[in-house]
Amino acid sequence: MGAKPPFLAGRETEKSLFRDFLTDLAGRIAPGTSLILHGPRGNGKTVLLGWLRDAARRSAGVETLTLRPAEIPNEARLGELLAPQSWWRRLGSGQLTLGGSPWKPASAPPAAPGDLLAGRTRKHGLVILVDEAHTLDLAVGRALLGAAQEVGAELPCLLVLAGTPNLEGRLRSMEASFWSRATILRIGRLRDEATREALVRPFAAEGIAVADAALRIMLRHVQNYPFFVQLMGSAAWKQCPPGSERPRVTTAAVERVLPEFRRTKREYYRHRVEELIDRDLLPVALSVAEAFRTRPSLSDGQLRNALARSPVHGVTSRERADAMRALRDLGFLWRVEGELRWEPGIPSLMDYTREAAASA
Ligand SMILES: Nc1ncnc2c1ncn2[C@@H]1O[C@H](COP(=O)(O)OP(=O)(O)OP(=O)(O)O)[C@@H](O)[C@H]1O
Ligand SMILES: [Mg+2]
Repeated sequence: MGAKPPFLAGRETEKSLFRDFLTDLAGRIAPGTSLILHGPRGNGKTVLLGWLRDAARRSAGVETLTLRPAEIPNEARLGELLAPQSWWRRLGSGQLTLGGSPWKPASAPPAAPGDLLAGRTRKHGLVILVDEAHTLDLAVGRALLGAAQEVGAELPCLLVLAGTPNLEGRLRSMEASFWSRATILRIGRLRDEATREALVRPFAAEGIAVADAALRIMLRHVQNYPFFVQLMGSAAWKQCPPGSERPRVTTAAVERVLPEFRRTKREYYRHRVEELIDRDLLPVALSVAEAFRTRPSLSDGQLRNALARSPVHGVTSRERADAMRALRDLGFLWRVEGELRWEPGIPSLMDYTREAAASA
């Protein structure tokens, strides 16, 4: 039995907001904003973007366009991807004319990205989805953001970007005002109820019950972190052979998968700590990890004090601010939605960091 596709738990606010956007787009109402999903690794930006794409595809009067940053090296390629489908059909049949004579492009249509997008939204609303948007080439990003802003102010065109916390810095360097005009959705860990659903619903859909005690063990280990939910859920799934009578996820089954779960989790943490070492951030991360030893979240002041105690970065307030930004950009630290408090972007990474630093 392979890994069952995940059930998208929680994220109700995000889904409902997006449904409202789709209704507007189908009714040819301009959104007047773009949508940004950002958050630390493994919190479910990609799966949520997939949900948005599917919802848009089901929506009459709305077209979707998925752009992959790695496949857009320059503005010419962006132009090709943004050009309305009908352009290419007419081009194929030799019907496209420019100044009265047949036109063949050298490498890209002779139009600004905004005109291409406007052409594309003439008959349908349009949702453009870009995952890993922090990896967009700067010039490509600048052209895309500018076009989306210009067209989305007048026409039913919505740009949706997803990326890690450093997305904010990247987007500001492309188009200064974009971030403040966008609608920002912070994708952090799941709430307790959503985690419970994420662990139970995929089994329930196949008539498999999850014993209360087994669920409690799983909840304790996954710490509301979506990546761990998927890791645990798919491991437990393999313990339920198809066709077994009265299938049930038992405590014994969960205990059987724990060693493998822990191994994968440690491997994942090892990669995160390597990122810190590569950026010379391990000492400062350790100071922060120490501060989280006794508290689940930190105020701005508590975080600054922790950074001030760091042997490397604790000298000036500018260095403290830089270190804080760097840890936030990596998703090591994350500001809780709607609160002026910081929590670990990835749970129990703090314990691992302390261990790694102790053995380094
Ligand atoms: N709402 C959710 N309910 C249940 N499982 C989820 C949810 N969100 C994410 N997951 C699970 O968590 C895992 C990580 O999600 P995803 O790959 O979307 O994260 P991400 O934020 O895009 O990470 P990265 O920044 O590394 O690309 C997925 O395998 C998915 O199964
Ligand atoms: Mg992703």
